[in-house]
Amino acid sequence: MAKRVVLAYSGGLDTSVAVRWMGEELGVEVIALAADVGQGGDWDEIKERAKAAGAVEAIVLDLREEYANEYVAPALKANAKYEGKYPLISSLSRPVIVKHLVAAARQFNADAIAHGCTGKGNDQVRFEVSTMALAPDLEVIAPVRGWGLTREQSIEYAERWNIPITVTKSSPYSIDQNLWGRTIECGILEDPWEAPPEDVYELTTPTATDPVELVISFEQGLPVAIDGRRLPLHELIGEVDRIVGSYGWGRIDMVENRRVGIKSREIYECPGALALLMAHADLEDLTLERDLAHEKARLEPRYADLVYDGLWFSPLKQALDAFVDKSQEFVTGDVRLRCELPGRCIVAGRRSEVSLYDYALATYEAADRFRHQDAEGFVRLWGLGVATWAARQVGRASGGE
Ligand code: ARG
Repeated sequence: MAKRVVLAYSGGLDTSVAVRWMGEELGVEVIALAADVGQGGDWDEIKERAKAAGAVEAIVLDLREEYANEYVAPALKANAKYEGKYPLISSLSRPVIVKHLVAAARQFNADAIAHGCTGKGNDQVRFEVSTMALAPDLEVIAPVRGWGLTREQSIEYAERWNIPITVTKSSPYSIDQNLWGRTIECGILEDPWEAPPEDVYELTTPTATDPVELVISFEQGLPVAIDGRRLPLHELIGEVDRIVGSYGWGRIDMVENRRVGIKSREIYECPGALALLMAHADLEDLTLERDLAHEKARLEPRYADLVYDGLWFSPLKQALDAFVDKSQEFVTGDVRLRCELPGRCIVAGRRSEVSLYDYALATYEAADRFRHQDAEGFVRLWGLGVATWAARQVGRASGGE
């Protein structure tokens, strides 16, 4: 049995109760680790709360840069969207959190890590499979999955132990947020027929008035500047979020297939993620050679599945990262995004020093470099097989056999 546990601590009701509950029921020492992945929050208060709940140690780590550069960046290069839509907001943040849970477990000589996920979701899979990959010797404890407390009972438990919880009964939604976007579940959203009420949205409330254009510059597959202003990735995403979100663009309403076999209705708002993914894919259209582009497109859904399914730390994922990295060598250039009301953001133009778009080949104007006479023979050979097959059909139809 574990003696000392590092808990992925969010500061919310469940993980706060989990600190005390594990201490009382399992007799373990709990180290609470809160990770800042760009969700926002009062970190001093969260630290205090963990201590008040009974944690022997409360740690807050600012992981925003690492999360952006080592987790979001590879996913962006891979155009990773689960089921073609969801840019993997929660799926990407769990592995970086696990990496630091494991590091803290080593530092504090803990023999287990713990998380506050229920048994119905994907996040438990990501926490546990990532731990199995990085530290197979560590035990994983999932108190929320086993304790069978209702929300009311958890609130009661917190009150009984004087755990300072700010329970906002007003929000019926379950939210997960980081710098790549915001996820919203529960409440009325559990009926897939119901339109999401406007109050679920925070990042995509339309406040802009005039159209705007912004130029996103990419270097080897990653965005590095907005309108010529260089920014580190985690800040750049936030900036695009604010601009594009103010046009009410960047919402997803989908029914998705969870790893555990449940279909669930999910609302996402991630204007920055969706705009950057759109711009990146567009620049690839300009700069990737055809076969490479097609093969990459074939692998992208596989990449997204691996991330979604908790296999961030896995051999196939590593191998795909190597392929994707190589493919990005020449994905350098600018993409012009145009935002306008209501709720519109489009790619209005793209350019690159290493573009494969050749005006002299593509133009229909007279002065081109294309050898028209080559086309005749090329097309005849291209269609030769089909022509031979067709001739046989004709022969048969006329009773020639
Ligand atoms: N369905 C999304 C996913 O599996 C979002 C999960 C949100 N997580 C949460 N604990 N609320 O990645």
